[in-house]
Amino acid sequence: MFKVHAIPPQRLPELLRRMPKAELHLHIEGTLEPEMMFALAQRNGVALPYANVQALRAAYDFHNLQSFLDLYYAGASVLCTAQDFYDLAWAYLERAQAEGVVRAELFFDPQTHTARGVPMAAVFDGLGRACADARTRLGLSAELILCFLRHLSQEDALATLEAALPWRAHFIGVGLDSSELGHPPEKFTEVFARARALGLHVVAHAGEEGPPAYIWGALDALKAERIDHGVQAWHDLVLMQHLADEQVPLTVCPLSNLKLCVFERLADHTLARMLDAGLCVSLHSDDPAYFGGYLLENYHQTFAALHLDARHAYRLAANSLRASFAPEPDKQRWMHALKQVFADMSEQD
Ligand code: ADE
Ligand code: ZN
Repeated sequence: MFKVHAIPPQRLPELLRRMPKAELHLHIEGTLEPEMMFALAQRNGVALPYANVQALRAAYDFHNLQSFLDLYYAGASVLCTAQDFYDLAWAYLERAQAEGVVRAELFFDPQTHTARGVPMAAVFDGLGRACADARTRLGLSAELILCFLRHLSQEDALATLEAALPWRAHFIGVGLDSSELGHPPEKFTEVFARARALGLHVVAHAGEEGPPAYIWGALDALKAERIDHGVQAWHDLVLMQHLADEQVPLTVCPLSNLKLCVFERLADHTLARMLDAGLCVSLHSDDPAYFGGYLLENYHQTFAALHLDARHAYRLAANSLRASFAPEPDKQRWMHALKQVFADMSEQD
């Protein structure tokens, strides 16, 4: 048996990179780097209201979720063809593999694209091909989760799900994202029931800015298998106990929360409290092109701010693998590889 405490703090960066991890909370549209945004704008003849990459980056100064979403949806308007979606996803997947990600479950927002006249086929063809190539060329297990925009109606979500059914084999689940406040999970009870009946996994953003009641709603009304964010749970002790008892996975994105002013400083983040309470939390990157860092950067900055150590690293990586929707034999293989990394690094002491 390896001794996690035998890994010295100075080796933490190497450990964080080497440990097999699952990225479970990543919006593929949120990996659109400014350079690619400008390149695709030019390729597709789309006008951007920014003179250059520097001016665009300077606009990444958000004060809440909505201020980010306004810019994020505008940025996504450069994505038009299957090749655009492929290029976006492939750039992300290559980078994820280099950071030790073995499993990626990518969120995408079809309504953002179909509303502009982009065919559903272009979205699925591009993203689906990138995921297939990741499996064969990178050895990275990659799947798609279709998210409904909660600021739109349930009818729109239902129509989107039906329109996506010709590509049913291309996605493993559905999620719920966009503007949280004023759009409780219960608004989408029917479309989530339909998704479950189709054998899809279900997850939902809840408790990012919204109250604990939205987390209860995601669990009770939508039967969410994972909660995305969930960082407001600590306001409700009964909910905290329930999340701990049931080991409900919570996909936490610290740099996102910092950038969107959910917490003033990373040191104030509730992750430490969630870990102490025994919750099944894992770390993720949300919209890394906008929030200042991909998965490893989330680990590095969070570990520094909250003084976390190798034991926390093991728990966070193991939770991410456990919470993934990958086949059980794959999970066991990755858990074994995770233990091996810790054993190797302990022995070298
Ligand atoms: N869509 C992309 N990023 C999001 C976030 N952090 N919250 C809700 N919807 C999103
Ligand atoms: Zn998100």
